[in-house]
Amino acid sequence: MRKKIIIGNWKMNPGLTDAQDLVFKLKNYAFKNKQVDVCVCPPSAYLVTIMNILKDTSILIGAQNMFYKEEGAFTGETSPKMLRDLNVGMVIIGHSERRQFFHETDQDINLKIKSALKFGLVPIVCVGEDLQTREKGNAESWVKGQVEAALKDLNQNDIEKLILAYEPIWAIGTGKVCSGEDANKIIEMIRATIKAHSSESSSNNVRILYGGSVKSDNFNDHIKFENIDGGLVGGASLNFEEFIKIINLANNVHALH
Ligand code: 13P
Repeated sequence: MRKKIIIGNWKMNPGLTDAQDLVFKLKNYAFKNKQVDVCVCPPSAYLVTIMNILKDTSILIGAQNMFYKEEGAFTGETSPKMLRDLNVGMVIIGHSERRQFFHETDQDINLKIKSALKFGLVPIVCVGEDLQTREKGNAESWVKGQVEAALKDLNQNDIEKLILAYEPIWAIGTGKVCSGEDANKIIEMIRATIKAHSSESSSNNVRILYGGSVKSDNFNDHIKFENIDGGLVGGASLNFEEFIKIINLANNVHALH
């Protein structure tokens, strides 16, 4: 059975003092007996500080982005080798904010995935359609195209290491949530796409998450679906009580399945 995972994407938030405060609280909260993986993705400027605080805990750490080159004259970028040297375990790749504001293409994202895998990082690959695409009824084909582009040239072994996150752009930071049923439909399609590209075992083993305005009062609608393996949580991951409640929802359904 796939282990549920809740990932907090802090984006370019919060201030250092608030960030430290948040992780000290998380550290003191007993995660050891939980059946759910928990990961936080701080801004890269804080990675070392946050990792030091969390070093003796089971909480996983992810970066929010990386470049695909190992080193070189790429001012401002972070390489997968650097993340590996810090012992960062995961990295978000292809978040819609990277696609939208930093013009990352499907091809860049595929290169980043391959490079992250080469350095032993778990890529958390984000896909999702904008409102116009959904309203035209093209959400499934759009997301399928993104998944196919992300998986290009990856073998079964590589694919099984990935985490995917379905994050419809229109649901990110807007308070508009994609219903569990709609998210589940897209996630089923993503599994079918993985199966067609690779194998049934890859499609069964890859964890696929929902993200987009996840809060403790709406996430049950998603996490109750066996196909949805957790959440990629933005705003609500900055609030300790909310984040814990979301983790507990995943933990409760884990006990049921
Ligand atoms: P919100 O939860 O703030 O909508 O952000 C979702 C997201 O983009 C996580 O990567």
